[in-house]
Amino acid sequence: MSFIIALLSLLLRLTSAASPPSLRPGFYSESCPEAESVVREVLRQAMARETRSAASVMRLQFHDCLVNGCDGSLLLDDTAEMVGEKLALSNINSLRSYEVVDEIKEALEIVCPNVVSCADILIIAARDAVLLSGGPNWEVKLGRKDSLTASQEASNDIMPSPRANASSLITLFAKFNLTVKDLVALSGSHSIGKARCFSIVFRLYNQSGTGRPDPSIDPDYREKLDGLCPLGGDEEVTGDLDSTPEIFDNRYFKDLVNGRGFLNSDETLFTFDETRVYVKMFSESESEFFKAFVEGMIKLGDLQSGFPGEIRRSCRAVNGRPVEEVLVATKR
Ligand code: HEM
Ligand SMILES: *[C@@H]1O[C@H](CO)[C@@H](O)[C@H](O)[C@H]1NC(C)=O
Ligand SMILES: *[C@@H]1O[C@H](CO)[C@@H](O)[C@H](O)[C@H]1NC(C)=O
Ligand SMILES: *[C@@H]1O[C@H](CO)[C@@H](O)[C@H](O)[C@H]1NC(C)=O
Repeated sequence: MSFIIALLSLLLRLTSAASPPSLRPGFYSESCPEAESVVREVLRQAMARETRSAASVMRLQFHDCLVNGCDGSLLLDDTAEMVGEKLALSNINSLRSYEVVDEIKEALEIVCPNVVSCADILIIAARDAVLLSGGPNWEVKLGRKDSLTASQEASNDIMPSPRANASSLITLFAKFNLTVKDLVALSGSHSIGKARCFSIVFRLYNQSGTGRPDPSIDPDYREKLDGLCPLGGDEEVTGDLDSTPEIFDNRYFKDLVNGRGFLNSDETLFTFDETRVYVKMFSESESEFFKAFVEGMIKLGDLQSGFPGEIRRSCRAVNGRPVEEVLVATKR
């Protein structure tokens, strides 16, 4: 009888190892009780050096989770055998603050080595970035494993362009079971941070190949953007994603209502009927925005890879591979 029970429990463990780990709050409460406070403290220090690192770190969760689930695949540097995600279309010359994630991981490896996954670090840090910027607080589910590989091709196929219109964004988000409301709320992450002229020059000078600017831009704001991003100018120059780029608030939505969205993928949310209702709702109620944003972030964090994983020692490389071996291009 006890043999059968032992066999059954073994079988149960084998089958649960094949399915993705179940995520839960307080996953590290015994194995690493300091985990969440260490992440917050290192992020706080990074923000004291550069406020924008909050936005940059928060964005990493989105780019990690949409490609094969939240598995830290984004953080792997390229190697001779593997072309990773860092140089993918939406990431190259754009994603930043990888070094903040490294600092968090190094601090965690001192207090509890080999325990906290890089995938979970991104989830905790994104929450803290929002909180430390004046946004809502919420409990994060943890227990993710880090991927053994990454795919530049998958990132190129999936990640949305700043040129996207609301209807294509709705279709994309639906593939991840994210609703129209989730799309609009999560886009509210652009309440903090910056983007390059590279991401908007087409809409300033040649929207949809018309040879004309996007008519939905407020004329005064367009004049300002034309000055920031002149035709043929330096496209690496950056501008603010909303008018309070260091504070996580609902100003982003008020800006959209006034035709002052920075990206086409932002302003389009006000232009399309299906999304406009939520832009209006969130512009009028910050608490509605915060509530929907938290729900969206939790759903985003629930996306899992289904592939086997590990707890990486360094977020940049799978275990057993010296970090020095990684290719220089992605080693920032
Ligand atoms: C809805 C589709 C989205 C599109 C098309 C989009 C696109 C972009 C683009 C083009 C940039 C600027 C890149 C550059 O010029 O270098 C950007 C920045 C940013 N994105 Fe998104 N994004 C989307 C959704 C999201 C979501 C869901 C999040 C987080 C949950 C997010 C977080 C951010 C943040 C925080 C920044 C500023 C980063 C910084 O200052 O370093 N975005 N996004
Ligand atoms: C939205 O963008 C997609 C993809 O670029 C395009 O096929 C579609 O026609 C656009 N829809 C509208 C209503 O503009
Ligand atoms: C979306 O939900 C359906 C039905 O619950 C599920 O089968 C599917 O795996 C989900 N897709 C994703 C990407 O989570
Ligand atoms: C605008 O875009 C269209 C289509 O992409 C292109 O054919 C045209 O040459 C562009 N015009 C200018 C002035 O760049």
